[in-house]
Amino acid sequence: MQSILETRQLAKSYQANGAATQAVRGVDLALAPGEFVALMGPSGCGKSTLLHLLGGLDRPTAGEVYLGGRRVDGLGEAAWAVLRRRQVGFMFQFFNLIGNLTVADNVELPALIAGTPAREARARRETLLKQLGIADKAGTVPARLSGGQQQRVALARALVNRPAVLLADEPTGNLDSQSTDEVLGLLRQAHADGQSIFLVTHNPRIASAANRVLHMRDGRIIGETPMDGHHSLEALLDVLRGLEA
Ligand SMILES: Nc1ncnc2c1ncn2[C@@H]1O[C@H](COP(=O)(O)OP(=O)(O)OP(=O)(O)O)[C@@H](O)[C@H]1O
Ligand SMILES: [Mg+2]
Repeated sequence: MQSILETRQLAKSYQANGAATQAVRGVDLALAPGEFVALMGPSGCGKSTLLHLLGGLDRPTAGEVYLGGRRVDGLGEAAWAVLRRRQVGFMFQFFNLIGNLTVADNVELPALIAGTPAREARARRETLLKQLGIADKAGTVPARLSGGQQQRVALARALVNRPAVLLADEPTGNLDSQSTDEVLGLLRQAHADGQSIFLVTHNPRIASAANRVLHMRDGRIIGETPMDGHHSLEALLDVLRGLEA
């Protein structure tokens, strides 16, 4: 089956103070439709950089990115803005919600910008907030919500345009364990509903909800661990211990 997201020899180097940092060094990956893939690796190994390349927030120095079979790495910002509205949903560690808009408006805005009729945008927002258990917070501003609740709003916002792929960069990174469990449950639910997910995480428990885990070191994918069966967390912890050694 055709991949929903694919890269070929993707690379990114940054120039800073005359020295070059090769953050991503030739990554080949493929995400099948409906697949949930987690990316793990130590701080600074290039995970966020890779995610930004996949979502067009940054441009590669070399290599190719395909979204739904279409080559997109050479597209300009205007074309990427359209893709990010319709094809890729983003979820960040620090939510990036708009502080002076209500929860309802934060979720509806990307749909309206994408040209969805107001009535349809409202209906989608109501459905999503209900599914995520925060329908009663629609009229509240984000600052009045807990971290877990804010992350749920961020998830609703990322899903409102029914993106082909959900890209998430440590969406539970600064949450307490209860909120982490909530967000994990919602990611599992989205995946069960057919959502393709590519997620960066330091948390093995989050990663073990994926179909497979990619391991990154120094800008490269050095291996992967399939996550099928109910001993997958233990298997993943074993692999991670092996990589540390
Ligand atoms: N805008 C930038 N300019 C220069 N160097 C950068 C830039 N962004 C990232 N880097 C460098 O690229 C490398 C990879 O960074 P990246 O943020 O992708 O790591 P990461 O795996 O997401 O780390 P973490 O787990 O801490 O979030 C690091 O050495 C970092 O310092
Ligand atoms: Mg990062």
